[in-house]
Amino acid sequence: MVQFGKRTTPPAERMGARRIYEALRDQILGGVFGTDGQLPSSRGLALELGVSRTTVTVAYEQLLAEGFIEVRQGARPRVTFAATDQAGSRRPTKRSRPVNLSGFGERIAAAPPRIDRVPGTPIADFRYGDLPCSDFPTVIWKRAMNAAMAIHAERLTYDDPKGSRRLRKALQGYLWRARRLRCDLEQIVVVNGSQQGLDLCARLFLDPGDHFVIENPGYAMARRVFAVTGASPVSIGVDSDGLRTDLLDGIRARLAYVTPSHQFPLGGVLPISRRHQLLEWARQCDAYVIEDDYDSEYRYDIKPVSPLYGLEESGNVIYLGTISKTLSPTLRIGYLVVPSDLQHVFASAKQLMDRHSPLFEQEALASLIESGFYESHVRRVRRLNGERREALLKALQYQFGDRVTMEGTDAGLHIVVWLKDLRSSQEAEFIDRVQRAGVGIYSISPLYDGELGNGYADRVGLVMGYAALDTQRIERGVHILAHVVEQMRSRTRAKKRRSRQS
Ligand SMILES: Cc1ncc(COP(=O)(O)O)c(C=O)c1O
Repeated sequence: MVQFGKRTTPPAERMGARRIYEALRDQILGGVFGTDGQLPSSRGLALELGVSRTTVTVAYEQLLAEGFIEVRQGARPRVTFAATDQAGSRRPTKRSRPVNLSGFGERIAAAPPRIDRVPGTPIADFRYGDLPCSDFPTVIWKRAMNAAMAIHAERLTYDDPKGSRRLRKALQGYLWRARRLRCDLEQIVVVNGSQQGLDLCARLFLDPGDHFVIENPGYAMARRVFAVTGASPVSIGVDSDGLRTDLLDGIRARLAYVTPSHQFPLGGVLPISRRHQLLEWARQCDAYVIEDDYDSEYRYDIKPVSPLYGLEESGNVIYLGTISKTLSPTLRIGYLVVPSDLQHVFASAKQLMDRHSPLFEQEALASLIESGFYESHVRRVRRLNGERREALLKALQYQFGDRVTMEGTDAGLHIVVWLKDLRSSQEAEFIDRVQRAGVGIYSISPLYDGELGNGYADRVGLVMGYAALDTQRIERGVHILAHVVEQMRSRTRAKKRRSRQS
């Protein structure tokens, strides 16, 4: 039981979080928990103290940031700092003065970086976003990097903030061939992954107090990067056709973030009528639409769809692409196509942020695109990922039959799976059990703002990435999922029987 001083009136959220943090920290320092000791779940502690779960989460995040605890998705926070440990360097230092952050800094500090990892070597990790090293063209990439370094052998100098001209030219051709997107060379800005593109948009378009439209459920990294500016999200529901544009009526916002070609995470493709509705709304309230085209290379049973960019004349769509799904997320290369009247401000912003993206990698990528290798590589990985997707769908069908609902199976590198046998109250335990059995599994709920929608309010939903797994691992992983579900089901059945008997 966690001990706290007597509370009189309910404190404001932050004060409450501070008190909880201090109490827990003192108890950890006092050796109450010991290494590996478990703290209560945020839900449990919030109930116990009569505060909101957010308050407890903020306190836990502070403990996490200072190295007192570790947090794994679905599991209770665990103490990582031993009070008796004299190793000095491991002991978090007690600051003599409070951290003095800007409003922006405070908002960022409220949620420390999360890297969910299953400990050890998992049997299968369905973490979305990972790619297998075996798909990466290592030899070709090394050769291209060597060539890029040879070109710049004499003098190393800063380049154009918009990125290497050679890469932008190559991308211009690629975007036309692959996406029928026509743009001027100067409209392309090479960025350090989509994330930097989103950050640039956030800084350029949002002020504290502004509003931005975001899909619900949606991409958490987009939501966060916009929200830390001090702007407020307007979460708009999503159905099997993507963003519910009918809900935009009467909403005023500075920008809208959308994934029209493959809604993240549910997988819908925005139909043409909704595209026009969205663009009309943007025109009327003078908002920018950020089109995140993060995985359009992967379409299996359906035809490619054209991007939103190019559908409209008024120049308020910003297109965002990445090579994180085709080559590697570690390279950190993405690209923006911005309206002509914004090219200078984007170039200035990029220059102020980091001068420009690393040049050798840009040149190496340019040579892969110029030679045609990139597109043949994309075809190859699309086929491989099609096979992985097939294996996952088959394994789920085999193990669960109609006890699961799957969404977004036609495209991308992940699917969403709703388990019919478990209630949402069982989610944390389920994920914990599966992870303990050596399988990384990730809930969809953090991608929702509020309740799970689409009639799934009381279900367990999973976002299952498959790109980094071979067939065998996929089958073993799904087998373990099914086994854990079955264990939990039989326990629930036994409980019900007992309560009927008594
Ligand atoms: C919706 C969405 N957009 C973009 C990305 C890629 O981000 P980045 O290019 O920063 O690696 C991801 C990665 O998972 C994503 O899910």
